[in-house]
Amino acid sequence: MTIPPTKSHGRKSIQASVKPRELMSTDPRLAQAWQAQVITLFPEAFPGILGLSLTGRALKDRLWQLSTVDLRTFGEGRHRNVDDTPAGGGAGMVLRPDVMGRAIEHAQRGQSVRTPLIYLSPRGRPMTQAMAQSLAAGPGVTLICGRFEGLDQRVIDHYDVTEVSMGDFVLTGGEIPAQALIDACVRLLPGVLGNTASAEEESFSTGLLEHPQYTKPALWKNHDIPDVLLSGHHAKIREWQRVQSEDLTRDRRPDLWAEHLRHTTKPET
Ligand SMILES: C[S@@+](CC[C@H](N)C(=O)[O-])C[C@H]1O[C@@H](n2cnc3c(N)ncnc32)[C@H](O)[C@@H]1O
Repeated sequence: MTIPPTKSHGRKSIQASVKPRELMSTDPRLAQAWQAQVITLFPEAFPGILGLSLTGRALKDRLWQLSTVDLRTFGEGRHRNVDDTPAGGGAGMVLRPDVMGRAIEHAQRGQSVRTPLIYLSPRGRPMTQAMAQSLAAGPGVTLICGRFEGLDQRVIDHYDVTEVSMGDFVLTGGEIPAQALIDACVRLLPGVLGNTASAEEESFSTGLLEHPQYTKPALWKNHDIPDVLLSGHHAKIREWQRVQSEDLTRDRRPDLWAEHLRHTTKPET
């Protein structure tokens, strides 16, 4: 079987205007950049939203690299079948282990450093900011996007794949979760966010939800901005934000609040 080249995103040369799809190129000079490889039946879905705004700028600036592996090209037979009926019966189709196995091995052969292999799956560990921080600190990720009823369990077991979920809901495929995971990691890479303080202060970074934000105009539809935020008194503003952050977390996310208390409450002596 002829293995097609992997599609890569990342800029070879700086041009005046570059479209998101033109960010795809294989460039060995980017070997040191954070690598996101995505195995998918829909490579045309990438870079998608990742080609815009801060992540798109960072892709052009070679702060990270994106490549897709087209699962279809590893399919069986003339029709390049990638799925089959579930063993034991039941609705839908399941992604074949031999097809996915070939795609994974192809993806890993191209890597100078092995990156964590993650299957986006509603059964997985819920994605967290801590997970994004840990992945962003590594060499990159190899992501498997499921479709249909999902992936043959033997692939998950054989390649020691980590399953990661974007939440307790079911999407039609892993492409949107893959883009969400990559976005959460890329914005933490050095140089991606203009103002690094914003990554340190936002929700979850401190273990708490972020305080409410306001901007101009000072009065809008009879709603004003809390006086303290216009006082210019930085200590009082910080204190107000801290209290808001704690109140919101206590009300909306008792799980995060309990975790916060566990870390901040000193054990009695
Ligand atoms: C229709 S879903 C399969 C759902 C599977 N039969 C189940 O009940 O767990 C198809 C694919 O979408 C992706 N997906 C759907 N929901 C997801 C979620 N909450 N988090 C991550 N990936 C998800 C996965 O890659 C999954 O293999």
